[in-house]
Amino acid sequence: INTKIHQNSEEASFYVANEIAELIRQRQKSGKNAVLGLATGSTPTKVYEFLVKFHKEEGLSFKNVITFNLDEYYPMAADSIHSYVRFMGEHLFDHIDIKKSNIHIPDGTLEKEDVKDYCRAYEQKILKAGGLDIQVLGIGRTGHIGFNEPGSTLSSKTRLVRLDRVTKLDAASDFFGLENVPSRAITMGVGTILSAKRIILMAWGEGKSDIINQAVEGPVRESVPATFLQHHDNCDFILDEAAASALT
Ligand code: F6R
Repeated sequence: INTKIHQNSEEASFYVANEIAELIRQRQKSGKNAVLGLATGSTPTKVYEFLVKFHKEEGLSFKNVITFNLDEYYPMAADSIHSYVRFMGEHLFDHIDIKKSNIHIPDGTLEKEDVKDYCRAYEQKILKAGGLDIQVLGIGRTGHIGFNEPGSTLSSKTRLVRLDRVTKLDAASDFFGLENVPSRAITMGVGTILSAKRIILMAWGEGKSDIINQAVEGPVRESVPATFLQHHDNCDFILDEAAASALT
């Protein structure tokens, strides 16, 4: 893991958005697609803002971009204010020229008995697209990446999982109360994430400093899933000064 510390999340997000834009442009030149793994939550919103800005002001096109989102709550209606489908539309997809058929977000509306086949097909689609070129990640206080909570294995793939109590507590205010937070989610696995050619994990603020320290400097272990990223040879942690403050 390489750590890159920026003065604030704005500068850090600009840096990440530029790397993504550069990949998209390079692929365009050779007539190829760029395959992006995307995250939701508060962390990547400024990156998406910059990408929208590059589209509107500099003509960056997303016609050759294929996206796979990490996760979605389960069950979750697509048009719910809490859905990641809605989040991605609001923050990115509704403002750029990406083809609807190139957008993939785990489906929170499936019948329980269909979830397994759906997850297998999600993995197949990633492979068929040529694999993830860049996977963008945030990190939860439990050390989760995607919704791979403590106990997730190194080789785990896209699947239905149970959310950790700490994760539900962190989501409680968004859902106007803990009792409204879904208990489950569909998430790409640790193995799915590690298969990406490049991984960019972002974290902002003091509240993430302890888990960032554990993820970067702690022993690799299932109880802190983000430590599995230490196995990846092209993984950057992009941090603001507060999130980096517990690193030695
Ligand atoms: C979101 C996701 C989660 C978040 C993490 C941090 O798609 O997979 O792992 O990245 O919970 O959330 P924020 O950014 O809201 O602190």
